[in-house]
Amino acid sequence: MNTPVTLINKTVLTNNISSMQALMNKNSKLLMPMMKTHKSTEIAKIQLNTGCFGFLCGTIEECIAAYTINTKNIMYAYPVINIDNIKILSKIAQHCNMILRSDSYECVDITQDLARKSGICFGMTVIVDSGLHRFGLDPYKAAKLAEYITKKSNIRFLGFSTHPGHVYQKTKDQVAEVANDECESLKKAEMEVRKYGIESVYITSGSTPTVKLSVESDLINVFHPGNYVFNDYIQMILGSASEEECALYVSACVISNPEKGIFIIDAGAKCLGLDKGAHGNAAISGYGYVKKHPKAIITSLSEEVGIIHAKQEEFRIGDIVQIIPNHSCATANLTSRLYFEQNDNTDNEYIKVDIRSNSYSFQI
Ligand SMILES: Cc1ncc(COP(=O)(O)O)c(C=O)c1O
Repeated sequence: MNTPVTLINKTVLTNNISSMQALMNKNSKLLMPMMKTHKSTEIAKIQLNTGCFGFLCGTIEECIAAYTINTKNIMYAYPVINIDNIKILSKIAQHCNMILRSDSYECVDITQDLARKSGICFGMTVIVDSGLHRFGLDPYKAAKLAEYITKKSNIRFLGFSTHPGHVYQKTKDQVAEVANDECESLKKAEMEVRKYGIESVYITSGSTPTVKLSVESDLINVFHPGNYVFNDYIQMILGSASEEECALYVSACVISNPEKGIFIIDAGAKCLGLDKGAHGNAAISGYGYVKKHPKAIITSLSEEVGIIHAKQEEFRIGDIVQIIPNHSCATANLTSRLYFEQNDNTDNEYIKVDIRSNSYSFQI
């Protein structure tokens, strides 16, 4: 097989999907996985067939793709402000439950105005900041915004959402603290909104590192892990996946050995991605984990090639190395095909990554 190439082990992929669904079923929770990890209708169909309730989408294209494959419950992860985007989502809302998220009065007003003009009703959750400090309000302000939404005719308040993404900046020992932030902040918001006589339908959250802990919450009833389908090196560092549970890796060739202990591979930033985990993690020293060579460090990446520092006896020119990326969501977004491993028992050669913004061809 030519290199570099992004490979997928289908058995590991389907096992990851079924074991997450089994975890949800066992705890009577709904799974709406984050679609941005794979951006692939084929993988989304496997998730739907395995029993997921719907999808959390990170882009308009992902919402359209989810609708195209007959998803009944679609949630958009971030506030939608652009009127053209809301117009597309209004069309989707005519056919399925389209749930938006908000963290501002402006967003609620814009959505209400367009939903009224289109004669539709959106579901909406309010984003609570559980520690990532990206979107969201503190639980008290979130409850006030929730109360404001209940007065709108074309928006139905459904509950609260958060994403404990700050877990990616932590160590393995701190994952439980973050899961606690996730559960407590949502609990505060829910307790506060009940003072207004309002109850939530959905309390939604999720990240791959925290899900096994927060699934035990008696409040959160919808989970949104995404990365679990592939897993990656940051999940290995945080203890949420083993090497054997990583479904996606890059195969690259050692093409030069210019100095003792320095090896050049033909996979660079345009293949592996420059991420050091979803939000950067101090425990990550290189640009991926070289399978069977735990001490080798990919110290830098230029566009097409990477540099590995390792003991001279570790590699020879011509060797093929397999690299688990730091952040598989970013790596999958850099290719249009995830090739199956040669020994995968499948009729097809690859899975298409067909929902990337720049290569998207579905219509609404
Ligand atoms: C809002 C939101 N929810 C859920 C997820 C899924 O988290 P993970 O990839 O850790 O499973 C993400 C991913 O970044 C996200 O941004």
